Amino acid sequence: MIRGKIVGTGSYLPEKVLTNAELERMVDTDDEWIVSRTGIRERRIAADDEASSDLAYQASIKALEAASMAANELDLIIVATTTPDLPFPSTAALLQHKLGAGKAAAFDLQAVCTGFIYALATADQYIRSGMYKKILVVGAEVLSSIIDWQDRSTCILFGDGAGAVVLVANEGESGILSSHLHSDGSQAELLYVPAGGSRQPISQEVIDKRLHYISMKGNEVFKVAVTALGDSVLEALEANGIDGEDIDLLIPHQANIRIINATAKRLGLPLDKVMITVDRHGNTSSASIPLALDAAVREGRVKEGSLILLEAFGGGFTWGSILIKW
Ligand code: UT7
Repeated sequence: MIRGKIVGTGSYLPEKVLTNAELERMVDTDDEWIVSRTGIRERRIAADDEASSDLAYQASIKALEAASMAANELDLIIVATTTPDLPFPSTAALLQHKLGAGKAAAFDLQAVCTGFIYALATADQYIRSGMYKKILVVGAEVLSSIIDWQDRSTCILFGDGAGAVVLVANEGESGILSSHLHSDGSQAELLYVPAGGSRQPISQEVIDKRLHYISMKGNEVFKVAVTALGDSVLEALEANGIDGEDIDLLIPHQANIRIINATAKRLGLPLDKVMITVDRHGNTSSASIPLALDAAVREGRVKEGSLILLEAFGGGFTWGSILIKW
């Protein structure tokens, strides 16, 4: 049986650190509120001249290095992003050029915070079908470009960054064991950017009304996320005939420590089996899981044979999970 196996990870965080103390000077908030409600202490913010493809490039170089692979060996590049450099062409095409990945096809995938899960599942299917053998999967975001810095309910949550993995065809037991993807567009307006697309293109009115920024009804999103993620991780266990205690490491989307704790509880997992980066990265949308995965690998928390469960929930709504035998 052929399946996708991750053979290299990499990540990149912009230099600038934005602390809760600095946010206290920008909006009516305080460190105690942010830490107790979200678990976030700081996040990174891209420089003015850094776009998603630049972050993606840095993360990809490290992932390729870790995989001992040259960019021109890649068959395909998928970039999950909610903040592409441009409306078009795709950030993946720009990355393909920067990397010199001459023979790679390239496209972007948009599933907001579940983007990396969707992209990795998609890449795995290309491998299982036999169409491609070497795929670069990236999650890259400059969310600071769509944050309303006057809205305290959202501006404290998000950060910038990128993570990448190299996925190769592997015959054997290790690699991606299962992926489960879901969506429900009926409540899209609980978490969205109201304008800037074809429904309401950018105009002076859009800018004046601040409609080109993230809008979220956080409390309502929170409730849906906790239920959907709990069901999603149990779905992954059931499909693979395993129990929560079989999981060696849960790598959840890093949106809120309270959501992460609730999911770990549904799995019956102690917190030392959960990768937590939300305190230092904030919510980096599609970059959050590959950033956390790369940190886990480099901290030695992922070993050969480890069972790793990835899960995410995001705008759409979209949600899903991937189980990996490392
Ligand atoms: O990544 C994709 C999916 N997104 C998520 O998963 C995010 C899910 N939602 C959340 O993580 C949480 O709902 C938030 C962290 C966004 C908010 O936490 P909450 O416990 O749901 O707070 P809330 O929205 O119910 O607001 C509670 C209070 C309100 O004041 P009143 O109405 O009780 O007087 C807010 O106005 O906290 C107030 N508040 C703040 N206070 C200080 C909202 N933002 C802030 C702030 N600082 N930054």
